[in-house]
Amino acid sequence: MNAPELEPLLQFVAQRTGTHLSRQQRERLAVELEKLGPGRALLHLARLQSREGALELARLLAVVSVHKTDLFRDEPQLQALETHVLRPLVALGRPLSVWSAGCSTGEEVATLLVLLADAGAHPESSVLGTDLSDAALAQAKRLSFSPEVLKRVPRELLARYFREGTLIAPLMARARFAQHNLMDRPYPFASADGPFDVIVCRNVLIYFTAEAARATVNGFVERLRPGGVLVLSTAEPLLEPVPELTTLRLPGAFFYQRDGGAPAPAPVPVVAQKPVAPRPPPRPAITGEVPVVLTPEDEGRKLFELVLEWAANGEDHPETEAGLRKALYLAPQLASARYLLGLILERRGALADAAGEYRRALLMLEAGRAMASSFFLNNERLKQACKLALKRVAPVT
Ligand SMILES: C[S@@+](CC[C@H](N)C(=O)[O-])C[C@H]1O[C@@H](n2cnc3c(N)ncnc32)[C@H](O)[C@@H]1O
Repeated sequence: MNAPELEPLLQFVAQRTGTHLSRQQRERLAVELEKLGPGRALLHLARLQSREGALELARLLAVVSVHKTDLFRDEPQLQALETHVLRPLVALGRPLSVWSAGCSTGEEVATLLVLLADAGAHPESSVLGTDLSDAALAQAKRLSFSPEVLKRVPRELLARYFREGTLIAPLMARARFAQHNLMDRPYPFASADGPFDVIVCRNVLIYFTAEAARATVNGFVERLRPGGVLVLSTAEPLLEPVPELTTLRLPGAFFYQRDGGAPAPAPVPVVAQKPVAPRPPPRPAITGEVPVVLTPEDEGRKLFELVLEWAANGEDHPETEAGLRKALYLAPQLASARYLLGLILERRGALADAAGEYRRALLMLEAGRAMASSFFLNNERLKQACKLALKRVAPVT
């Protein structure tokens, strides 16, 4: 199949996942689509859209999906969730309903069940895990994890809630799983036609197009109880205000609360930051031969693209921060790299430093000096993201 022929097929897969396809994802998909055979793009498209093509489509969607997950992923955020959201809800004394949307292989569901149990939740409380991928769900349902994965669980919680790597039976009984594509309506209910107290959708929307993310968040709002809380990952704050949602700013985390109803976890003022020691200027690591034709800006952009590729593959790469700093040393006008660095610093609690990065990114965006990059936000949306980020971290700067 030639490139124009492939395009409608690629677009269909992108639309079914809500994903903004990266160059690497498009290339991987093109290889898979080629296997369908030559010159019959429209027939293939019709098949993928039909009931009979469901398996083939699932296989293609798996090619673009990132399943990276962990038990107790982003502990500071989870601590804030337990203290400021789950415990006040538990105090109401009724069963709670939580939805992990895009639960991958079940680590997030297990984590939420442990947090609920540890907060003393009503025994009929439940967690629903949904995902696009059947294969991920099949693994998720076992709620059983390798010793390597279990290393992330705090020791006392491991002893209390896991036996031989598997979640204990009373907690397992509180889990439900269902295959669900966030691009499809209707969205699931908690029980009968009941709403959820908390919806957790972390590291999913980051891959979505703006339109798909907006529709998904609106879908979540419809399924949240008034006063219920939406949890996104700290790397993917909402870029546009949603009228029914209020941001809860907490130490180390932020959540979104649906207006109306009780309880309203009181927003806690963000803690003051310790002054951060000045950093020595970063030095570019020059490994091997650098092609003479590359300007420092080109090199910086290439490095940044590498960091983006790690992120697109769902890798929490230890070199991410260093990679961004090097990229910015070489190409200081990469506003998107500054924004990403700001997110990393914000997540670590270095709010003043984070604000500095957001502010610098915004300045160059507003002055029209920002370099274009293959970041998933274009410069217009990036400007919006920087402004929002500055509002988030502003109280301490
Ligand atoms: C990177 S994992 C995140 C897992 C977990 N939420 C976490 O933060 O550790 C993203 C998951 O979202 C799922 N996903 C991607 N697009 C989806 C869609 N349109 N509908 C439902 N799930 C989707 C993928 O199959 C994958 O398992």
